Amino acid sequence: MNITYFGHSCFDVEINGKHILFDPFITPNELAKHIDINTVKADYILISHGHFDHIADAVAIANRTGAKVVSNYEIITWLTKQGVTNSHPMNIGGTWKFDFGSVKCVAAVHSSTLPDGTNGGNPMGFIIESSAGNFYYAGDTALTYDMKLIGDYHKIDFSLLPIGDNFTMVVESAITATDFINCKKVIGMHYDTFGFIKIDKQDAIKKFAAAGGELILFEIGETKSIKK
Ligand code: NI
Ligand code: MN
Repeated sequence: MNITYFGHSCFDVEINGKHILFDPFITPNELAKHIDINTVKADYILISHGHFDHIADAVAIANRTGAKVVSNYEIITWLTKQGVTNSHPMNIGGTWKFDFGSVKCVAAVHSSTLPDGTNGGNPMGFIIESSAGNFYYAGDTALTYDMKLIGDYHKIDFSLLPIGDNFTMVVESAITATDFINCKKVIGMHYDTFGFIKIDKQDAIKKFAAAGGELILFEIGETKSIKK
């Protein structure tokens, strides 16, 4: 799978020729000024929760690309009022098969209020299963014992986990999460964007390695091929 990082928690994962864009937050991100959102590809846009730093560019990219937006019912209702026409509402516990593979919505321990104060439902993570591989995109979450269900019932090839602390898991919690998920390969997200979540990246990589894991960090704009 080719994965491109657009900063914060925004990734394009190319699966079976389709571009799945997660949590688009690019134009307000000071670290992503070199990214032109008009070049961002999307066949699907998956949104984990309603916070600004996960949804800021969703409407613009959805309208330009015609991508199908997948999120919880409350967020889809809100995006529809903003002009999004192609969407699929889901909620925690549900799975749906799309043309690239399946999406299962799982619990995240966080909050989800939308930028204008509207109730954004409950925050979610996603398990993507496809012929190209399976992965877990955690969204914003604390470490939670629910992650054990993922490890017990899914074969995960890699996870995208928040590691920036303050709003989400800290590195040590993400390492514990890899035990629950039963997958040691992690792509880090939700770090460095704001003052509250600045981390020592080399130290984080060392801590994962010391625990027998692997932490992969991208430059913003970088594409890597991640093998299952
Ligand atoms: Ni959040
Ligand atoms: Mn966030």
